[in-house]
Amino acid sequence: MQIIAHRGASGLAPENTLKAIRLALKLGAPAIEIDVQQADGELWVFHDRRLDRCTNGHGVLSRQSAAYLQGLDAGDGEPIPLLWHVMAAIKGECELHIELKGIETAEGVADLTRRAEVELGFMADQWLVSSFHHPELARFGALRPEIRLGALIANRPLALSHAAEALNAWSLNCDLDFVDEALVKDAHDRGLKVLIYTVDQLEDARQLHEWGVDGIFTNRPDLMLKDTQLGQH
Ligand code: G3P
Ligand code: MG
Repeated sequence: MQIIAHRGASGLAPENTLKAIRLALKLGAPAIEIDVQQADGELWVFHDRRLDRCTNGHGVLSRQSAAYLQGLDAGDGEPIPLLWHVMAAIKGECELHIELKGIETAEGVADLTRRAEVELGFMADQWLVSSFHHPELARFGALRPEIRLGALIANRPLALSHAAEALNAWSLNCDLDFVDEALVKDAHDRGLKVLIYTVDQLEDARQLHEWGVDGIFTNRPDLMLKDTQLGQH
């Protein structure tokens, strides 16, 4: 089961900052997940719609200028990084899972992934691009059909993992609150991998491993990578 550092090693450093990314790399995480939003023509690595919880700024991120966003403190004096800065910190040393938050991200992520493959040593199979916004994910898939897609869901649909299959996704990325063995089996029967967020307790991780889940997003990669029962790869 793959251990994916959620928003970097975000249980140990401010989420989605370069500090959290570097710590996840140092811990040996095989994959790192980040959230990406667009503002003022740039792609920013940030989870919330609003700036208030994670920075000393205010308001909706997508409505701010680059000059304002660059000056904010996202924790421990760390700035909100641009997607390119995160890519440059990783340089193909592990997989990067890029979650598209909302619209106007697909084109920019397609361009930067291409550029990072030329300039930073990434391989196309080291990306996994995911989103709850399935139309935006489909737009990305049309731009870069060789990159794996993760269809995010935060519920338990009547049609189980049908939406992920319809998107031609590589994985179904599901909330821990809604996963059960039948959903895992349904996804596997359709040829999909199953990745579960956000798993910070070992007892949950072990249960998911027993069900055959392929990967977990965790804020505590340190704990999960140490556990010998999880069969990491
Ligand atoms: O990509 C998995 C997980 O990050 C999705 O939810 O809200 O943490 O971005 P969220
Ligand atoms: Mg996310």
